[in-house]
Amino acid sequence: MKIKKNIALEFNDFSKNYTNDMIGCVPHYAELISSFVEHLPNDFYPKSILDLGCGNGNVSAQLMPHFPDATYTLVDASIEMINLCRKQFSSYNVIYANNYFKDFAFKKDEYDLVVAGFSLHHCDEVEKQSIFNSIYNSLKKGGIFSYSDLMISKTNPDHKKLIKSWEKFVNISFPDGEKWAWIMEHYEAFDKPTDYDLQIEYLSRAGFENIQTPFKKAYWTHIQAIK
Ligand SMILES: C[S@@+](CC[C@H](N)C(=O)[O-])C[C@H]1O[C@@H](n2cnc3c(N)ncnc32)[C@H](O)[C@@H]1O
Repeated sequence: MKIKKNIALEFNDFSKNYTNDMIGCVPHYAELISSFVEHLPNDFYPKSILDLGCGNGNVSAQLMPHFPDATYTLVDASIEMINLCRKQFSSYNVIYANNYFKDFAFKKDEYDLVVAGFSLHHCDEVEKQSIFNSIYNSLKKGGIFSYSDLMISKTNPDHKKLIKSWEKFVNISFPDGEKWAWIMEHYEAFDKPTDYDLQIEYLSRAGFENIQTPFKKAYWTHIQAIK
């Protein structure tokens, strides 16, 4: 599998066997996806939900059975991913935005819940900070931002160790080594993960006061921040 020239085209291609690939390529993927529901407060009933980098809809699909009457806004640069969501979510209230995050108009005080599954590591440090600010402003007071991602920078002294253990994990499901070679090409071209501590600092600077980490195994992390 050759990598494509931008995120939108890359994920159009990736959409074909997406969930299977993610389960085999991302350690703890299932737990990091179920975290989006599992760690919400029991008395939290969001009416307006924004899913940033919805992909084929795995995060929204977790939320929908629990919050069937909410309005969902799904943003993704890849039209094929958006189309997979359209097919799947026809019986829910969904607004689609086939946009890059930088071109999405975040409305002020609009959402009760903003979620992002494995999408923010595609943004560089400047864009991440800008998105955290936009998310904070677009949440209502008491609203929640939760996201799952790989949280280690490529310059972290432990990065080489992470890569070794990640390779071992991927080669269990895809032993011929081709998938790992593709992941590394994709990772080099498109992925800009940030250290966990720095992300907590960015979230605090954006204004979040209550920041929890309900799931963290090695660098695979789910964070929840309340406005
Ligand atoms: C790894 S997938 C994650 C999909 C899903 N949220 C999940 O947790 O499985 C990342 C998705 O984010 C989208 N994406 C990445 N960077 C983006 C950006 N800057 N603007 C809009 N979409 C982006 C990609 O097109 C892709 O569909």
